[in-house]
Amino acid sequence: MSNRLFSKIFSNARKPEGFFGRMMVNGMNGGSHARMAQWGLSFVNINENVSVLDVGCGGGANVARLLELAPKGRVEGIDYSPVSVKKSKAVNAKAIAAGRCRIQEGSAAALPYADGEFDLVTAFETVYFWPGIEECFRGVRRTLKEGGRFLIVNEDDGLTGNNEKWEKMIDGMHTYTPDELRNYLTAAGFHDIDVHINDQHHWLCVTAIR
Ligand SMILES: C[S@@+](CC[C@H](N)C(=O)[O-])C[C@H]1O[C@@H](n2cnc3c(N)ncnc32)[C@H](O)[C@@H]1O
Repeated sequence: MSNRLFSKIFSNARKPEGFFGRMMVNGMNGGSHARMAQWGLSFVNINENVSVLDVGCGGGANVARLLELAPKGRVEGIDYSPVSVKKSKAVNAKAIAAGRCRIQEGSAAALPYADGEFDLVTAFETVYFWPGIEECFRGVRRTLKEGGRFLIVNEDDGLTGNNEKWEKMIDGMHTYTPDELRNYLTAAGFHDIDVHINDQHHWLCVTAIR
């Protein structure tokens, strides 16, 4: 396969569109993403009635996971890709009908939520693509309650050099190292920042408190 075709296909990780986008979104809902998400979620306590926002929710598998972990809670998902939003709505249709879930199209750079709305904001496999990361983190912080938590989970900890081939293929992608994320989160006003690395897979999980 040519580099251009690879690049066209994998750019759908940044913003799923069209046929390849639909394939990508289906892929994101299973396999290694699921295992990594479960690993990341093990670093936060989720009460049954928590209110959660999942930014860059993709195909909605993590929204579904969060709804299961918080059976009396409310989960919102947002994604700037209409393909992701459609899939996420389909996956979580029951909870949407029950009034426990809402999925919206929108950007991490302009979160359409009130100040202090959420106990937890999650971002799985998505911060690599956010424009102006520090401003986005400020926006996340604004939507969190005082003492609320931000959870970032990335498949790549940015420490091995593996990220270079993806960054070449996917325009605008940046794989943050733990130190970079810590610095941006601190600059955005977060505290108690904890970094976890899965040594086997080089997954990265960062939690931070508003
Ligand atoms: C690799 S997928 C991950 C999806 C999902 N979080 C998961 O782990 O399965 C990245 C998702 O983030 C979304 N995304 C990227 N940048 C975004 C932004 N600035 N605002 C909102 N969504 C964004 C993409 O559209 C895509 O659905």
